[in-house]
Amino acid sequence: MNQPHQNLNVELYDLYVADWPGEMDFYHAFAQQPHANQTGVLEVACGTGRVTIRLAQAGVHITGLDHSLEMLAVAQSKSAGMDNVHWVQADMRDFDLDARFGLAIIPGHSFQNIHTADDQLACLTCIQRHLVPGGTLIVHLDHQELDWLCDIGKNPFQTVKYGSKLTHPVTGQICRRSYAWAYERATQTANFHSAWEILDENEVVVGRYDNEPLRFHCVFRQEMEHLAHRAGFEVEALYGDFLRGALGEDSTEMIWVLKRP
Ligand SMILES: C[S@@+](CC[C@H](N)C(=O)[O-])C[C@H]1O[C@@H](n2cnc3c(N)ncnc32)[C@H](O)[C@@H]1O
Repeated sequence: MNQPHQNLNVELYDLYVADWPGEMDFYHAFAQQPHANQTGVLEVACGTGRVTIRLAQAGVHITGLDHSLEMLAVAQSKSAGMDNVHWVQADMRDFDLDARFGLAIIPGHSFQNIHTADDQLACLTCIQRHLVPGGTLIVHLDHQELDWLCDIGKNPFQTVKYGSKLTHPVTGQICRRSYAWAYERATQTANFHSAWEILDENEVVVGRYDNEPLRFHCVFRQEMEHLAHRAGFEVEALYGDFLRGALGEDSTEMIWVLKRP
């Protein structure tokens, strides 16, 4: 290994996370609605600004909030010179921006980084306080796949998978992520162990960086509905994809459109 890396997850994030079909158009349409158009948009857990910057490029005034300084540093450098995007470092469970927005969004399953009911509620009520009356919150979650959860519950970390090969944008090294999952039924938690491997020209592994294990809370449909009501939201719509298809047996996503009364 000839190049040290600070955090390959951050350095490569924009290469390994792709948009969902219709995702940007979906958020953009909500950002054009009068409340959001007048007051701007808040993106919670924005990461490197995958969604934030695209909306800003389309003319939306947007604030991206994340607790990771590393992710925000990438977002900041990507948006240098843009004056309609602002970045805030804060915890999504407890923040005070002294501002109210017509639209808040939590894209990319980020809400699943919250693990307890108290914290979920704290996050949703905190966002509610930052919305104007009639404002909208969109939450994008996984639609849980029971066969898979059952498999990784019975066979924890047994199946190692590999992502596609990526070229590091700075070093030019070929990188590939290996990962495995396990599920804890009692806490509805999917545990994710991953590492980045550096490959040489013959695809031999010449370096390996283990990532911090991640824990994702598996939110189920009725759980989200109860949470939304406890936090004082009305459920305006629930979609199974960003093309506004109904949530069905084969849906892999849940997209909740919640309204502050
Ligand atoms: C999978 S990334 C998604 C980023 C972005 N929303 C997207 O769709 O590309 C999850 C993000 O959630 C952030 N995050 C996790 N827990 C958080 C918390 N308690 N408060 C704020 N941000 C958090 C992480 O730092 C990370 O940037």
